[in-house]
Amino acid sequence: MAGNNRGADGAVGPITPDPARGPQPAAPTRASWSGRLAFVLAAAGSAVGLGTIWRFPYLAAHYGGGMFLLVFVVFMLTLGVSLLILETALGRRTGMSVIGAFAAYGRKYRPIGAFIAAIPFIIASYYAVIGGWVTRYVFAYAAGMAAQLADGGTNFMTFVANGPVSVAFMLLFAAVTFIIVALGVNGGIEKANLVMMPALIVVSVGVAAYALAQPGALDGLAYLLLPDVSKFSLELVIAALGQTFFGLSVAVAIMVTYGSYMKPDVSITTSAFQTAGTTLGISLLAGLMVVPAAFVALGSGEAVAENSGPSLMFLVLPQVFQHLGAAASAIGFVFFLLVMFAALTSMISLVEACTSLVQDGAGWTRRRSLIAVIVVVSVVGVVVTLGYSSLSFVQPLGAGSTILDLFDFVTNSVMMPIAALATCVFVGWVIGPGEIVAEVRRSAPFRGAKAWTVMVRYVAPVLLVAVLVSSVLRSLGVVSF
Ligand code: PFF
Repeated sequence: MAGNNRGADGAVGPITPDPARGPQPAAPTRASWSGRLAFVLAAAGSAVGLGTIWRFPYLAAHYGGGMFLLVFVVFMLTLGVSLLILETALGRRTGMSVIGAFAAYGRKYRPIGAFIAAIPFIIASYYAVIGGWVTRYVFAYAAGMAAQLADGGTNFMTFVANGPVSVAFMLLFAAVTFIIVALGVNGGIEKANLVMMPALIVVSVGVAAYALAQPGALDGLAYLLLPDVSKFSLELVIAALGQTFFGLSVAVAIMVTYGSYMKPDVSITTSAFQTAGTTLGISLLAGLMVVPAAFVALGSGEAVAENSGPSLMFLVLPQVFQHLGAAASAIGFVFFLLVMFAALTSMISLVEACTSLVQDGAGWTRRRSLIAVIVVVSVVGVVVTLGYSSLSFVQPLGAGSTILDLFDFVTNSVMMPIAALATCVFVGWVIGPGEIVAEVRRSAPFRGAKAWTVMVRYVAPVLLVAVLVSSVLRSLGVVSF
């Protein structure tokens, strides 16, 4: 049942073949990407988003700069790429989204797929909240409020504490996503990505160069790039791992679905490296924009590490833009607009994944499934938004924490490592790595097959178990590192 009606009745744009790029199958029963570029664009569109531009810089700033970057790069190019290859190939092999892909090897494996399938629902609900913040900044810059936004961050705090306004912008951001998914986009997202991604890179390079030219910014550059061994900690490793999964959209049920739309002649390995490379490059650029800017605004490395949380990008970039004088509004507007587009393409992939999972799981029509997703994401999104105002007494992770922090922690530090572990054990030991290697080889030679196998069978499970056990022990207070 699972997966057999996806894409046929109005799947989102990237999934629909683009007539301009190649021949379409006559009466396709299953939609497919038009080629590698389409796949890489869709995968990169999902990957590059708020995680890359908003989340990575504040994590890097918080966890000691260069050391975090180093661990992150290592994870991206080993575990991240291996999982991208695995998930894409599993999707293409089975032709199904995550629940069906596991069930294809036996009904008893279905619960693993169902567990993984829950993740995009949680992420979508808080992703919309941050998307709402970005949307609000776009509007505020358009209204010429650059000076207020740069006002020592008080405006960000006031804004998130204003429940009704925050809810309105969250719903606006979510509504745009829902409309695009409902319309079935037809290549619109692929094309939007094609324009928006290069635009984002150009603007980011400009902003980074400008931020670096500010007095005091070079300290920030050194902090970001030079690893300081004393900063190494288990927490850093867990955060870097979570960011690898989040940033690449792996361990969240998306890449299996996307792989199921991939044609057999497209090289999975090349696509995976291109996707990871793009995400890594844009993460680094975002770090170069935000971290040196934070040094300019906050002074010392300690101050930056201490103040680095979800609000970092919203606080420091407006202050840096403000130095541009009259151009501040225009630059701020363009920058946050591009961030909003990056966020939208990721949010669309989340909503699309949730919709196809409901459709597969419940056997509902696409329309009914989407309506269910809209209701869940909107309602939970409102609760998460109000976590900064009327519900701010809910501090699930200790004083000052929010519901959003909880959702972020539960998905990135707990559920996604478990999902990745289950997937690696399943492929490495249950169905056997040969299944995936054969699928990868259908399109191109897989020279790294041995290394990949070792990664999936041994390295990843050991690492993931270590991370999970220690994070559980830590949260129980048994150990404190
Ligand atoms: N990779 C996206 C980002 O970095 O913003 C976030 C994301 C999208 C995570 C889709 C997971 C996902 F399934």
